[in-house]
Amino acid sequence: MATSESDKCWRECMDVAVEVACRAGKVVQEAVKHEKSVSTKSTPTDLVTEADQQVEELIISTLRDKFPSHRFIGEESSAAGEKCILTDNPSWIIDPIDGTCNFVHSFPMVAVSIGFAVKKELEFGVIYHCFDGTLYTARKGHGAFCNGVRIQVSKEKDVSKALILTEIGAKRDPATLNIFSGNIMKLLSAPTHGVRIIGSSTLALCLIATGAAEAYYQYGLHCWDIAAAAVIIREAGGIVIDTSGGPLDLMSRRVVAAGTHEMANYIVQQLQPISYERDDSDPGVQK
Ligand code: IPD
Repeated sequence: MATSESDKCWRECMDVAVEVACRAGKVVQEAVKHEKSVSTKSTPTDLVTEADQQVEELIISTLRDKFPSHRFIGEESSAAGEKCILTDNPSWIIDPIDGTCNFVHSFPMVAVSIGFAVKKELEFGVIYHCFDGTLYTARKGHGAFCNGVRIQVSKEKDVSKALILTEIGAKRDPATLNIFSGNIMKLLSAPTHGVRIIGSSTLALCLIATGAAEAYYQYGLHCWDIAAAAVIIREAGGIVIDTSGGPLDLMSRRVVAAGTHEMANYIVQQLQPISYERDDSDPGVQK
């Protein structure tokens, strides 16, 4: 496909993504008012509700109708055993409800996240905040926006002036918790202005894109938590890399994001790693 043709094509895909994310977000907004049917997945703290499954079905069936040749990676389809492999084909990477635990508690940090990749390169990302209706969007080479207004990361380089965000993944064994709290202690005693955990990786990453916080890191998130947000942060002028300091590997379940290289490199140097099974490992293997 010629560049201008693919540009037009992906723009059309993004228009559909915005429409579907808003529609799905409104379903989540309504579902939050009702009793939830909650089950667990990989660990007792890895929650799923009927709404996660219904919203994923709504998103994927709508997109598949319009783009039958595309591939789909969705959080709940993967949990149900579908392969989570990124190919060169146009691929949608979907988290129907990011912040499921927040959703269960009506804690107002819940999002629908839709990322899109072609030839394994992220092309655009759409994230809809289900409680306040904020829409974050970005397409490669075209800037990042919050409700249509251009956004920019923080240009702060000085760690002692940084607000840092993180999330804990699903593992809660003592060794993981020790490393997790050790990493937080190191960053608090740097000292930094503070460390925050809001319960939604995608919305935390959006806060890096708007410049509300300087850096984010996490072990244990999934490709559907990073895909859309990575485009939004990069288009807002930020950096999204692996916790080792190398390029982001969408399937590796770890990330450092920041407004500046200096901030990202500092975080990379502080972190003690927590290991998680890759997203593209065999289905059936506990992740
Ligand atoms: C999770 C949330 C959580 C983060 C996990 C994510 P989910 O997504 O973003 O804050 O710690 O790593 O997987 O399960 O609510 O879609």
